[in-house]
Amino acid sequence: QNHLRHVESLSTLPSGAGKIPHLNAVILGEALASEENDLVFPSQEFSSQALVSSPAQYLEMYKKSILDPSGFWSEIASEFYWEKKWPQQQVYTENLDVRKGDIKIEWFKGGMTNICYNALDRNIDAGNGDKIAMYWEGNELNHDGSLTYTQLLHKVCQLANYLKDIGVSKGDAVVIYLPMLMELPIAMLACARIGAIHSVVFAGFSADSLSQRIVDCKPKAVITCNAVRRGSKVIQLKDIVDAALIDSAKNGFSVGVVLNYENESAMKRECTKWTEGRDVWWQDTVPKYPTICDVVWVDAEDPLFLLYTSGSTGKPKGVLHTTGGYMIYTATTFKYAFDYKSSDIYWCTADCGWITGHSYVTYGPLLNGATVVVFEGAPNYPNASRCWDIVDKYKVSLFYTAPTLVRSLMRDGDEAIYIVDRSLITDILHLQFVTRYSRKSLRVLGSVGEPINPSAWRWFFNVVGDSRCPISDTWWQTETGGFMITPLPGAWPQKPGSATFPFFGVLPVIVDEKGTEIDGECSGYLCVKNSWPGAFRTLYGDHDRYETTYFKPFPGYYFTGDGCSRDKDGYHWLTGRVDDVINVSGHRIGTAEVESALVSHPQCAEAAVVGVEHEVKGQGIYAFVTLVEGVPYSEELKKSLTLAVRKQIGAFAAPDKIHWAPGLPKTRSGKIMRRILRKIASRQLDELGDTSTLADPCVVEQLIALSDQES
Ligand code: PRX
Repeated sequence: QNHLRHVESLSTLPSGAGKIPHLNAVILGEALASEENDLVFPSQEFSSQALVSSPAQYLEMYKKSILDPSGFWSEIASEFYWEKKWPQQQVYTENLDVRKGDIKIEWFKGGMTNICYNALDRNIDAGNGDKIAMYWEGNELNHDGSLTYTQLLHKVCQLANYLKDIGVSKGDAVVIYLPMLMELPIAMLACARIGAIHSVVFAGFSADSLSQRIVDCKPKAVITCNAVRRGSKVIQLKDIVDAALIDSAKNGFSVGVVLNYENESAMKRECTKWTEGRDVWWQDTVPKYPTICDVVWVDAEDPLFLLYTSGSTGKPKGVLHTTGGYMIYTATTFKYAFDYKSSDIYWCTADCGWITGHSYVTYGPLLNGATVVVFEGAPNYPNASRCWDIVDKYKVSLFYTAPTLVRSLMRDGDEAIYIVDRSLITDILHLQFVTRYSRKSLRVLGSVGEPINPSAWRWFFNVVGDSRCPISDTWWQTETGGFMITPLPGAWPQKPGSATFPFFGVLPVIVDEKGTEIDGECSGYLCVKNSWPGAFRTLYGDHDRYETTYFKPFPGYYFTGDGCSRDKDGYHWLTGRVDDVINVSGHRIGTAEVESALVSHPQCAEAAVVGVEHEVKGQGIYAFVTLVEGVPYSEELKKSLTLAVRKQIGAFAAPDKIHWAPGLPKTRSGKIMRRILRKIASRQLDELGDTSTLADPCVVEQLIALSDQES
């Protein structure tokens, strides 16, 4: 009954273009989106070619996915190759209610398949062997490459054979610490081919973080490269791996093999530090292996990968995804949210070190036989036009990125005008970062990682997409495996800043603090009340934490950790994290992790970290730090505290601001009142609220006085 009620409530969806219910609406391609128009309709032209072309078609498919999940997903799963089909009578098993026993989610269990086979061999068998699977664009202009599906398969097989040869087998973990070289997706696919579990660690994480992950998942091998160039910097990755392995050995785990790719453009092998007997050059070894490698068929519920993500305690969580459901879900979400056509060229700017790079650089697109652009560099190097240069170079039609990048490029401007005065002659040089490029190939734009503010949405839509391309603002998480709430670009009008409606098979609900579902126009905590094939199955080695974090806060539901409101038309608006996780440039960082790095500094007595609004990054990291008695404040000390965070987590987690705190506002029971710290950090001093329950209310005045002095 509840399911039906939910579906029916969606029938308030505004109808398609042509019948505009609001005067303040624009149709794709016909006008600019402005603050006055809050609805952007797909054009007739776009909708008519779209996979889902109307609210009615969506509702019909959505209804089926909710009322008959087994039928809906089985039909889609049948398009993939299964060595052995799953039992028809039991497509999925779920218990999302802690009151009814252990949390359990299984899809297609008993079915035997392989995601690498489905991404590569199946597409080659369908006649796409010569199609480009990947274009690779290096950090430097004119440094590029490409692989067809057949060439990619050969490279994957060689590495898979090598891994088998060194003793990696089904169920073993392999840690991958690589930048965005094609070898990164190749390594993921090679692991998948032989049933090994990959755990990619973003190559911006420090040695300490890498070591922590290695100790947790105990890999048979680590795959890395000697160095990488990012923008104008060279980062020596192998040195970081070496340090991580010294640390992990101290913590009782030694890695037998480190496979190093020689990234010649960043560093010559002669300059690379080497450990004989453990380190192996990729180029010397892997190409000697056969280009054919038998697939290891795995159960749909066998693990595919582990990906560590931040939570509200200092210890990262090993999110575990399994094979069959994840495969079906990433492929299907990719296809519909980007309205994928086989002629599309797709570019996602995310790094494979994050979930977006797993689901929507590697698996989702390749499962669809798509051509993917893999970009090694920094999106504003050598200047702010790099992205559009790449779009034109490869004729990118689907462009998927994060709001932080949109905002930073928007700040650089679409038409910077430099006036160069050379004695008597005045040159006017138009350096048009965006508009100098054609961008005609673009068809659909995508956004992920954090809420996209309406002004950035409009710039993306009006300037980058020439008001021609719909924007898929995809809301999802490492845990969800794939898109959960997302526009289907031809189906319904968009509202700048709203992720719109749930994907097929997903039942999002908004609950109040007591866990009661609220209907209609409302705000509250975002939960999901059913399982979907791409859902994570556990936290590696810690099923208790899985249940406690995600299923106990609101019994009966998966709790996302996000706040959300629903408007009168049923559109969803994500409002950010409601737990102690902050979202910096789309990177998820636990405040507890940063705090624990700060307090590890011998001169730091206590630290409290909060998120604060940041013009480009979305949220910035604001740290209140109490020093050990007698230690004087100094700029030097700020630098050394920042260094502690860079060392323990990575540069991306360095605090934007350190605020000296003689004391922290605490309740009488010793709990830090972060609400007050957030207000001080964002200078909303007239909204501090009731401070009378603090153990020492003077602390607040001291903090304000100190921040006044500094500013
Ligand atoms: O707060 C939400 C935000 O990113 C969180 C998930 O982070 P992570 O697991 O690192 O995955 C990022 C890529 C999927 C969510 O809990 N988030 C992600 N996408 C959106 C978003 N917030 C608003 N709108 C989005 N489109």
